[in-house]
Amino acid sequence: MLYYILGILAIIAVHLIIFLKCYERGIKINNKHITLSVMFSFYLVFVIEYLHDKIIDEIGSFIVTSLVFIPIGIIMPLIYRRFKYFVINVLFVLVFDVLMIILQVMHCSKFMPVFVVFSLLGLLIGFAISSIIRYVFSDLRKSLIIKKRKKRIVFLSLEVEIMTICLFSLFFSMAVIEKISGNNIVEKFDANFVNKDSDKYSKIYFAKKDYYVRYDAYAKLHPEMETEEIVWRVNSNLDKDFYDSRYVSMADENTYNPLLINKFNRVSENFEPKNLVTIEGNFLATKETTDAYKEMLEDMEEEGMKIYVVSSYRSIEYQENLYNNYLKVDDRDEVDTYSARPGYSEHHTGRALDISHIPGNIDAFEGSEEAEWVYKNCYRYGFIVRYKEETMDVTGYIYEPWHITYVGTEISVRMHSDEIETLEEYVARYGQNY
Ligand code: DAL
Ligand code: ZN
Repeated sequence: MLYYILGILAIIAVHLIIFLKCYERGIKINNKHITLSVMFSFYLVFVIEYLHDKIIDEIGSFIVTSLVFIPIGIIMPLIYRRFKYFVINVLFVLVFDVLMIILQVMHCSKFMPVFVVFSLLGLLIGFAISSIIRYVFSDLRKSLIIKKRKKRIVFLSLEVEIMTICLFSLFFSMAVIEKISGNNIVEKFDANFVNKDSDKYSKIYFAKKDYYVRYDAYAKLHPEMETEEIVWRVNSNLDKDFYDSRYVSMADENTYNPLLINKFNRVSENFEPKNLVTIEGNFLATKETTDAYKEMLEDMEEEGMKIYVVSSYRSIEYQENLYNNYLKVDDRDEVDTYSARPGYSEHHTGRALDISHIPGNIDAFEGSEEAEWVYKNCYRYGFIVRYKEETMDVTGYIYEPWHITYVGTEISVRMHSDEIETLEEYVARYGQNY
């Protein structure tokens, strides 16, 4: 909404200047031309707003991208003399694409270059349509352009470029301001403007007013979900891409209760957990984690089972080596499903343990009697199985039956009785921000 309002103001300003220039130089305004030019400017605002925050990564959005660029191919050759050459049209769209890509990288830290191909395809289709129109209605173009008199009127022939530069400067400056200030100015503004379903959300105690627009957008994509689920998911940023830098926060003991580390909450570079003690051999974990683990182990041993720690506290440097070594074997998207990026691992907190009934071998753990026992009983000791089979869309990680996290019994028992499967949902519903 904010972008649309600013876009409309820019359109009015530029057209006012053009109107005054025409008046000053005694040029007769062609109403058809101005109408088309205004429509074209609105269309530009729409395209930029559509693309600026969109990561185009599926066939549906590629097709939409082509459709979105068709009007440029149609309108430009009809109303602007300067754009009569096909190559200039193509260059214009390429420049448009490059700016779009920069904006996407800046804003979303990700882009799909193939969208340039689809935008050019849209332009070609538009250009073909434009040629047909000009062939069928041979006098149309003459009636749409402004007739130049006497001196060359630079301002008029640059109309589209001026409009484009204005709109891009607008969107770029907003993106830069948001990036620098870390504030979602646009979302905050929009939330105050478009509170269509505010009643629905205001009844949910953990819904945030600033997020109403995001709830609406996410609900549209997931009609099968209950409103509460929409709210806790969006509160956990699940409507955004994992690791989207705009939504990543620094977390530590003073941020949340319980401490939530995931693809949107990382620890700071110099984070070190308080209270690290030896848990088994050379492994370190926080005192509370170690005590709870020992108690669980004793009970398991009484039932004739044994488990071992395979990994516990890991520094950021250690995780960096681990992650980089995985990258030598798998591509980044694949690695991201089973390893946290440095700074984003729960193992930095000293509260996460990888365990197995076979020393050093976590892969053997799944399906074992010990794994079943841990899955069923670890909540009694203050642990949760953090990455479950059905929660990959929330955590971003595949099933890790060996990875348990100490959250304390108050939380683990509540999660168990309320059937809350992830720490993300727990924090969104009950997590205290200190
Ligand atoms: N394997 C878990 C997700 C980690 O790397 O922290
Ligand atoms: Zn782990």
